Amino acid sequence: MDHRIHVRRATDEDWPGIWQALEPVLRAGETYTYPRDITEDEARTVWTGTPGARVLVAADAADGRVLGTAKYLPNHPGAGAHVANASFVVAPDAGGRGVGRALGHAVLDGARAEGYRAMVFNAVVETNDRAVALWRSLGFTVLATVPEAFDHPTHGLVGLHIMHRTL
Ligand SMILES: CC(C)(COP(=O)(O)OP(=O)(O)OC[C@H]1O[C@@H](n2cnc3c(N)ncnc32)[C@H](O)[C@@H]1OP(=O)(O)O)[C@@H](O)C(=O)NCCC(=O)NCCS
Repeated sequence: MDHRIHVRRATDEDWPGIWQALEPVLRAGETYTYPRDITEDEARTVWTGTPGARVLVAADAADGRVLGTAKYLPNHPGAGAHVANASFVVAPDAGGRGVGRALGHAVLDGARAEGYRAMVFNAVVETNDRAVALWRSLGFTVLATVPEAFDHPTHGLVGLHIMHRTL
């Protein structure tokens, strides 16, 4: 892990920094199924507003800038609540320096410590090579691929991987 990256629980004051990381990724529409014209308020609700969700930020240890964010929560309520789901976004200009990997380790450690038994990603875009490689390197496998489930802005209809690992 890059020693200049500090991963911690998000606070309300982190929202502007989280939004700076999220907005370009959601507008690009290449990796998430949120509407590309999602408003800031809607994004705040989906990213930070779910009861029981843990929201993390990866901050630059030198200046405190939010470089990336992740959240994890039960994939289903009730009898399915021992399996976590998680989402990750790294600011495009902070990519490739280990922020995603640091967030991945923090999410896996946090979920395991909270008693989750496994983690599942429901919709990993199959053309998202960086994410797929990162999740595989963190122990996830592709259980199945839902064909033509994602309308990519440049590739057209592509599959969505369901990725899973035990904790
Ligand atoms: C996917 C994402 C979280 C990765 O974050 P990151 O900070 O760039 O990733 P890291 O620097 O930690 O790199 C992690 C791994 O990605 C892989 N990777 C990096 N660049 C890559 C590239 N150009 N092509 C393929 N794999 C690549 C490598 O396996 C790398 O591992 P390494 O540590 O051995 O080099 C980030 O690119 C992102 O937020 N993308 C947009 C949103 C998204 O796709 N979220 C995940 C949805 S499932």
